[in-house]
Amino acid sequence: MKLKLDAASLVTICFILVIGLVIFALLADPNAKGKPNATVEVAVVGTPGGRMAAVAPVAPVTPVARTTQPTTPAMNPLPVTPAPLVAPMTPPAATVIGKGGVDTGLKPFMNPKAKLSEGHWKGLEALPLSIELKKKLKLPMELEGLLIDEVTLNAAEAGLLAGDVLVAVNGKPVRTLEDLVTESRRVQMAKSASMLIYRKGKMQQFMLVAKNNLGFAQVETAPMILPGEIMPHPYRGPCTQCHAIGTTGHIVPDPDGIILPPPPIRANAVAPHKDRGPCQACHTIIR
Ligand code: HEC
Ligand code: HEC
Repeated sequence: MKLKLDAASLVTICFILVIGLVIFALLADPNAKGKPNATVEVAVVGTPGGRMAAVAPVAPVTPVARTTQPTTPAMNPLPVTPAPLVAPMTPPAATVIGKGGVDTGLKPFMNPKAKLSEGHWKGLEALPLSIELKKKLKLPMELEGLLIDEVTLNAAEAGLLAGDVLVAVNGKPVRTLEDLVTESRRVQMAKSASMLIYRKGKMQQFMLVAKNNLGFAQVETAPMILPGEIMPHPYRGPCTQCHAIGTTGHIVPDPDGIILPPPPIRANAVAPHKDRGPCQACHTIIR
């Protein structure tokens, strides 16, 4: 077989080769460069006298600060680097994953058929009354309704209590969160509706009253969880039956759980708190 190469095909082949080389160079470069730089910064901190001081005393607090707060330069000399590079000082990955944090490369897995897990209506929060909950709360197995697990606003004013079971709205049974949406929609323009409640072995009626109108219930599924997150509850079936899976569903840690780095202190500072150990374990000491 003979190869016939005219000028045009030669140019094309050269062009493809050059593009290939450029792509190769682009892919290879960042890895080759990034690692050694970052490792040096992690390993040692230079002092004016030319002595090298290990970074260990201040390092434990830096990872916490990294994802949560704009950090004080004094506390955090590190650029935001991927976790593996600072492995010896880094807490478990779960504490630093968050919005814009560790990228798994996966798209959020959204299950369009995920079960509803929570409903909200005029200050009440309701959960499906699962067998698990009936057992935990020692409720009759034959009872059907929604567990009211939180009350505020109108629901609290109506006399509802957390732990009540909502059985019917305006005489219509409410066995699922879908029922709650349907039945609240029926009364959404009304100013009041009757609520049939199971409490301590008895059925009781309450009036849910609104200033303007009742509106209708809003529902949601179980929260999006991180891929590989640990179950805080008993096994309930395949995770995706209830949860979306991904890193973008909520802030981790929860805003209430965000830890701020202890502020830098002066060398002669007196601790306003109890003995927590050597000061430099948690504080940068300024002279
Ligand atoms: C039948 C539904 C259901 C299934 C299946 C399920 N969960 Fe959950 N999960 C929930 C609900 C509802 C909550 C909210 C809190 C609660 O009720 O315990 C929850 C809470 C969580 C949380 C806490 C999330 C947060 O931000 O508070 C994690 C983590 C979790 N589940 C992990 C898992 C994992 C892992 C699996 C699979 C092995 C799984 N769940 C299966 C319903 C489910
Ligand atoms: C295990 C960590 C830890 C150790 C060890 C520690 N501290 Fe603290 N310190 C903190 C934290 C966290 C705060 C922030 C407020 C709080 O949580 O009480 C703080 C706050 C302070 C503050 C208040 C700073 C400000 O501007 O509000 C001073 C001063 C202080 N510490 C001094 C000391 C001294 C002195 C020592 C050593 C004898 C010491 N700390 C040891 C964690 C620590």
